[in-house]
Amino acid sequence: MTTLDSLFNPALVAAQQPTWPGDGSAISSAVLELKSFPPLVFAGECDNLREKIAEAAAGRAFWLQGGDCAETFAAATADSIRNRIKTILQMAAVLQYYSSLPVIKVGRMAGQFAKPRSNDSETRGEITLPAYRGDAVNDLDFSVASRTPDPQRLVRVYHTSSATLNLVRAFTQGGFADLRQVHEWNKGFIRDSSVGQRYEEMAKEVGRALEFMRSAGVDPAAFKSVDFYASHEALILEYEKALTRIDSRTQLPYDVSAHFVWIGERTRQLNGAHVEFASKIRNPIGVKLGPKTSVDDALALIDVLDPEREPGRLTFITRMGAGKIRELLPTLVDGVTKSGAQVLWVCDPMHGNTYEAPTGYKTRRFDDVLDEVKGFFEVHKALGTHPGGIHIELTGDDVTECVGGGEQISHEDLATRYESACDPRLNHAQSLELAFLVAEMLRDR
Ligand code: PEP
Ligand code: CO
Repeated sequence: MTTLDSLFNPALVAAQQPTWPGDGSAISSAVLELKSFPPLVFAGECDNLREKIAEAAAGRAFWLQGGDCAETFAAATADSIRNRIKTILQMAAVLQYYSSLPVIKVGRMAGQFAKPRSNDSETRGEITLPAYRGDAVNDLDFSVASRTPDPQRLVRVYHTSSATLNLVRAFTQGGFADLRQVHEWNKGFIRDSSVGQRYEEMAKEVGRALEFMRSAGVDPAAFKSVDFYASHEALILEYEKALTRIDSRTQLPYDVSAHFVWIGERTRQLNGAHVEFASKIRNPIGVKLGPKTSVDDALALIDVLDPEREPGRLTFITRMGAGKIRELLPTLVDGVTKSGAQVLWVCDPMHGNTYEAPTGYKTRRFDDVLDEVKGFFEVHKALGTHPGGIHIELTGDDVTECVGGGEQISHEDLATRYESACDPRLNHAQSLELAFLVAEMLRDR
């Protein structure tokens, strides 16, 4: 009988892995523990998502993926989780209302605890310590003890993901995500901002439409629950492999740590362990594609990850930068389309637009984020292909991490409430604003 471990070639190199201290016994026992835990998601849910992605790839649905750059254990609170879900539900309602397309709601949530880093270490003054690699590995605090990788953190990732997912499921299945609650999702957020008012007006219209449908005999229970999917970057392969299980229905391997996992820009080496890992699991998978991606790179990834050219299997998440997308994306999309693969094209307008503000904070301009999405829509329109979705780093809280937007956050304002453990996120108002602007593009596509 094949064991799961023999699915993977141990000789392949995995980039961006932590260096666990000690003789390896601590990571081995953490892995054993993880292997004994029940799945966080069910393989059947992953299959449902794959079918929905196929719809989006064909232009009949839109993908909305959002959440923290790096989740932290400390921020896995009821308030923080609820605000993120509310923000995503509000954005989805806006997109759906103006485009009349079903929106696939996906959180960068319940597992997004590990980060690839450009440098292995960080130096402050005289002191050099290991870089922060996400709560899955070490702690953000700048001390030797905090920055030393600890494999027991992987066990905590599992438990925190499980608690987060439990609340996500309660909110989305228990009536909170009911379209009739469209007003409620705005509660607790600033309603007097112009985007808040715009949302209230739309919510009234949605309410009227629902009343109309009810009067026409449509059962309101049809709107009671929504499907909400969990996703994260499959980075720490010890964790992902320990949570890869054979599905009893199909006898095929699924990574049951999330419905959808993606491979990052720094770990998508064709002969690397991450691509091999993704090729073996049956979940729908994503790959980030940065500005250096050639058509041949993309085609080679398709051959390994989607040899059957199965709709819904593969999502390409492009992150080119606002200044480059119009120049770089057309060749890529054209080459992939000619290969016959039906990938879902998703725009990540965050990771190609990061810069350091004069005040030292890592930030992004709202206008660059918007411009990259605009470029994405323009390119797909010109080629007759489908702009399938967006991938956003956001939070439901009122942080000041990205500049611009209706609140006109300036470089000086960033210090007011900068809380991200990694990259700068759109706050609640900026996220809603972006949703309205993307909804217009979607309507006019
Ligand atoms: C991320 O999504 O947080 C990330 C690190 O992205 P990328 O791999 O595209 O750089
Ligand atoms: Co990020």
